[in-house]
Amino acid sequence: MIIKKCLFPAAGYGTRFLPATKAMPKEMLPVMAKPLIQYGVEEAVEANMNTIAIITGRGKRAIEDHFDYSYELEHQIKGTKKESLLSDVNELIERCTFSYTRQNEMNGLGAAIYKGETLIGNQPFGVVLADDLCINPSGDGVLKQMSAIYEKYRCCIVAIQEIPKDETYKYGIVAGNEIEDGLFIVSDMVEKPKPKDAPSNLAIIGRYILTPEIFGIIKDTKAGINKEIQITDALLNMAKKNMVLAYKFKGKRFDCGSIDGYMEASNYFYQQTSKVEKSTK
Ligand code: UTP
Repeated sequence: MIIKKCLFPAAGYGTRFLPATKAMPKEMLPVMAKPLIQYGVEEAVEANMNTIAIITGRGKRAIEDHFDYSYELEHQIKGTKKESLLSDVNELIERCTFSYTRQNEMNGLGAAIYKGETLIGNQPFGVVLADDLCINPSGDGVLKQMSAIYEKYRCCIVAIQEIPKDETYKYGIVAGNEIEDGLFIVSDMVEKPKPKDAPSNLAIIGRYILTPEIFGIIKDTKAGINKEIQITDALLNMAKKNMVLAYKFKGKRFDCGSIDGYMEASNYFYQQTSKVEKSTK
């Protein structure tokens, strides 16, 4: 497997979840009892990306504490039934290395990714926006699917899904030519277009594979919509020089950055758990 590193931009303010996110990172919101960012790291590890780089900001220290041992707590629950509740996260701590850098000014996802250059270096890497919770109950996770495509094409890849046309203003939207089932060469990309200006209804969601050339391109990309440095604009600049692919992933995505998507994810996971419990009774 070639891609070993995965970047988690997690510096955003998460204003849609205020007041919950006033003192707590959005990425630590739990679906069932597991924080969103842990689902993301599990997906990265499934794709063999064990070097985890996280872009944090002020007020995000809980993320670092989550991916570290808590000896006092572990001592407290040792030998009880609750011990197993920490086994998944402890396994991640054993298998991964975590490094962090701070984005001091929240000036966009492109800028957050650019901050990751020192942690990533000169190699291709995955990107996970942990507030997009992705699952694929019938096979490989989304990052693993994208990694396999990277091995074949060796270029930047964005994950996409079809969305209702009246929601294009929430997403980066791509247009492209389909070269394989569900795989497109990007010909255009627009961040948050009005429905009438959108080139399609194919929306970028929070999974990317990027090559290190992206850092130089972001550096030369001017602030776009909302006066933020947009990764979509940088990737369009990349697409003008090199191939960029858009991949309609297999699986399901919950937009846990919004209350509706978060509730949908919580209900879905709760129902799955109760199904398992009923079948084992
Ligand atoms: P969002 O657009 O969801 O913004 O960012 P947000 O600040 O997290 O949430 P709201 O809209 O205020 O509720 C998408 C992803 O990009 C990261 C966020 O942490 C999230 O994972 N991001 C965004 C950064 O790391 N830095 C930024 O400057 C902007």
